[in-house]
Amino acid sequence: MRTQVAIIGGGPSGLLLGQLLHRRGIDAVVLERKTRDYVLGRVRAGVLEAGLVGLMEEAGVADRLHREGYVHDGTQIACAGEMFHIDFRALTGKPVIVYGQTEVTRDLYDAREAVDARTEFEVDHVAIHDADTERPHVTYDQHGATHRLDCDFVAGCDGFHGISRQTIPLGIRREYEKTSPFGWLGILSRTPPVYDELIYANSDRGFALCSMRNENLSRYYVQCALSDHPEDWTDTAFWQELKRRIPPEAAARLVTGPSIEKSIAPLRSFVSEPMRWGRLFLCGDAAHIVPPTGAKGLNTAASDVHYLHRGLTQFYEDGDPEGIDRYSERALLRVWKAERFSWWFSSLMHRYPDQSPFDLKMQQADIAFLRDNAAQQQAFAENYVGLPY
Ligand code: APR
Ligand code: PHB
Repeated sequence: MRTQVAIIGGGPSGLLLGQLLHRRGIDAVVLERKTRDYVLGRVRAGVLEAGLVGLMEEAGVADRLHREGYVHDGTQIACAGEMFHIDFRALTGKPVIVYGQTEVTRDLYDAREAVDARTEFEVDHVAIHDADTERPHVTYDQHGATHRLDCDFVAGCDGFHGISRQTIPLGIRREYEKTSPFGWLGILSRTPPVYDELIYANSDRGFALCSMRNENLSRYYVQCALSDHPEDWTDTAFWQELKRRIPPEAAARLVTGPSIEKSIAPLRSFVSEPMRWGRLFLCGDAAHIVPPTGAKGLNTAASDVHYLHRGLTQFYEDGDPEGIDRYSERALLRVWKAERFSWWFSSLMHRYPDQSPFDLKMQQADIAFLRDNAAQQQAFAENYVGLPY
């Protein structure tokens, strides 16, 4: 079997890349370890930058997102029981769109199926061969048989636990990592959102976030211990804790109900450099992870897809390798800025076990500066709506 681009991983990175390449007449096969239902069962963040929305438009898959997504012109930041607003639209001219990553993925799978693009599900033992030559190939097992896929390029879109990054020799790869000593406990509930914008709350009891998917589907998070298990948290305990962490006016309006999903996610900053080795390109979570504060995970994956699909198109249409040669450098420049913002916003909002009274004062002053200073709000808004590609 032969294709132009072998895409490992059918998450948002691999699917969006596949769809953009398809629109340019470049053939790609997606190899996904799980089933489509499994991939669509994962609950992930739900805030889309304008850049990602633009890519979805370019890929021809933005209709439902424009119909059903919610335009948010700003966000709320809460500290010590008080809230203030940051107006993205006034500061940057751009909003963000609240639309679940799961829905983005569903739209991309539907589009892939509509054009009969090839996706192989439930593949196992995927291995990338000869990536440092002009003739790479990929092998994998599926339903008891071993297959070989010859290609021009391999896109490693297989997330943090994938094999693509591991294919780059250790002597070439450099990894940077910072983990947080706590996690986020998240629940999804069929209840109306507490507020019409997201609320990021810093409180004495730890961070909380009020988010949403639609007018009757809410997503809430509280900072929790890494040793906690979702089953240790009853719904009642979750709602009680959330109410204690958000401003009283929001707590009073909070509508509670049974959770339909409950999970704990760690907070990690991670970058692996370079993002290219020969004819293998890493894209999205395969190369980097951000803590979820600021919702930059999916959006940073999207900026990689932007640079990679431009590079591949330039190669196939003009015979010019400049875009693929500079892919790693361009993608990483933006990745590190997203890492910086996510790390800074996380450090602003959470309680840390080793935080001294001085550290707490710094955090409060930092939040007060954001509330009162136009330049700081401008910088926040530009980062939140997404830095330019
Ligand atoms: N072979 C084939 N597929 C694999 C393999 C493998 N060895 N390992 C992992 N996969 C698949 C996973 O099952 C998953 O569907 O690769 C996909 C990777 O998807 P994501 O983890 O969602 O990563 P990505 O597509 O880069 O999406 C961007 O940024 O912060 C996050 O939440 C955000 O998940 C989003 C991500
Ligand atoms: C979410 O809705 O799941 C979400 C929103 C904003 C974040 C993180 C997660 O910063």
